[in-house]
Amino acid sequence: MPRIAYVNGRYLDHRHAAVHVEDRGYQFADGVYEVINLYRNRLIDEDAHLDRLDRSLRELQMDWPMSRQAMKVIMRELVRQNRYATGLVYIQVTRGVAPRDHKFPEDVRSALVMTVRPMLEFPAEMIEDGVKIIVIDDMRWKRPDIKAIALLPNVMGKQMAAEEGAFEAWMRDADGFITEGTSSNAWIVTAAGTLITHPEGQDILRGITRQEIIALADELGIPFEERKFTADEASAAREVFMSNSSHFVTPVTRIGDVTIANGKPGSLSLALHERYLQFMESEPFAVP
Ligand SMILES: Cc1ncc(COP(=O)(O)O)c(C=O)c1O
Repeated sequence: MPRIAYVNGRYLDHRHAAVHVEDRGYQFADGVYEVINLYRNRLIDEDAHLDRLDRSLRELQMDWPMSRQAMKVIMRELVRQNRYATGLVYIQVTRGVAPRDHKFPEDVRSALVMTVRPMLEFPAEMIEDGVKIIVIDDMRWKRPDIKAIALLPNVMGKQMAAEEGAFEAWMRDADGFITEGTSSNAWIVTAAGTLITHPEGQDILRGITRQEIIALADELGIPFEERKFTADEASAAREVFMSNSSHFVTPVTRIGDVTIANGKPGSLSLALHERYLQFMESEPFAVP
């Protein structure tokens, strides 16, 4: 069974799937994306992801390449053709193909690429041992709330993390506050047991998992506060974790050379992870 990608109206063998050299995503990073978790045949928080896609497109005055309903149909068809039960669906919309010129082209249709890749379910060691992160400067543009495909600072950050044997890099703004990870939102639990994450606004991506965790924490009766925190506060926190659609709630047990608490994932992080898995199981099947 070859892996299949969707490219502007066609289902193609993934090995040969390609866009035009003058796709504005390729030349200007003029596009937006979403990553949706496919978990045991469910598309987790699909509507919330499509709502965020809608917002990203509107912020950049870009059109939907097709109706939302049509996109849902294609997503399901792609999942069906690839036959993966668990993986990640990647959706990318760019402003389309046009002769290279910075300003928006006229009468050009936005372009759509969709892929699915298989993924193992959450690796046990990540939840048993937690992961290491490093802290770097946030060098991104001033609108990381838009899920744009321009990810060079994120790419550099993740590479720095990898070179230091870490799983993720958290970014620190000019005032010393942690904004988020290169592909995740950042969380701490204080000594008093309050869950903290950076307030939403223009300086972080409003993670879909982040929103779900806030709702689940409320359900579990965990006190929650949206406020900024520093790397020092995180290093001294009772618990630290990160969240995203690919890895849900991932405990962080080291920040650079500092071990968090007793070096084991904390109980609230584990409870949220467990509750999040239950939430995913409760989502409707996307493909039978
Ligand atoms: C910069 C950034 N922050 C946060 C997130 C988490 O968002 P979500 O929970 O919607 O996956 C991501 C996801 O890739 C991201 O790239």
